[in-house]
Amino acid sequence: MSTIHPSPLRVVVLISGSGSNLQALIDGMKSGDLPIEIAAVISNRPDVFGLTRAQEAGIHTQVLDHKNFDSRESFDAELIQTIDNYTPGLVVLAGFMRILTPEFTQHYLGRMLNIHPSLLPKFQGLHTHQRALDAGESHHGVTVHFVTAELDGGPAVVQARVPIFTGDDASTLAKRVQRQEHVIYPLAVKWFALGKLTMQEGHAVLNGELLPATGYQIEANEP
Ligand code: GAR
Repeated sequence: MSTIHPSPLRVVVLISGSGSNLQALIDGMKSGDLPIEIAAVISNRPDVFGLTRAQEAGIHTQVLDHKNFDSRESFDAELIQTIDNYTPGLVVLAGFMRILTPEFTQHYLGRMLNIHPSLLPKFQGLHTHQRALDAGESHHGVTVHFVTAELDGGPAVVQARVPIFTGDDASTLAKRVQRQEHVIYPLAVKWFALGKLTMQEGHAVLNGELLPATGYQIEANEP
């Protein structure tokens, strides 16, 4: 089963930082591989490099600084209005470091993706690379998932696994994981844009098939 989206699909990307995942989407879009149009990039922090990346690509940017709001609810309500002005078919969280209200997640249910640097359900939350090392894991990785009210808990779409090597620290491991982030996020967005990926009754569905709980699996053996 597939869903028909207008082509190219209108996407709004939310960021809080350097925007390397945003860059991967921009590159995919510019190469013609990704049938999306990034209608806007919105950051909750001013002066982050991701905004520069967007501007250099000619993409509209907007800053909605959470420090100017007195509650999470009022920030999220304004964020919904800001996003919806661009009438996106998909909202992409690309390093957007905010806990979201249930009103926000419900509003975009089934049309909002997040990327999280761990093999979910392992290591939800922060400092995932150090925690994977401290736990003595042999592998680590990254997950793209639909966003639900549960923090880092929505149905997984795709997961890339990387080995952990002796001598790794959080920084070397983060770099290895990030190379995979830049592969799997454009892939998941492409599936969604082509109407191959949907969320149905709390499950991620790809090409009409229910995905496993940890999503489509990619094994990355590169150093
Ligand atoms: C990425 O590594 C992403 O996985 C992580 O933030 C980084 C943003 O990098 N996201 C989370 O930790 C969400 N819980 P980027 O700004 O260079 O794309």
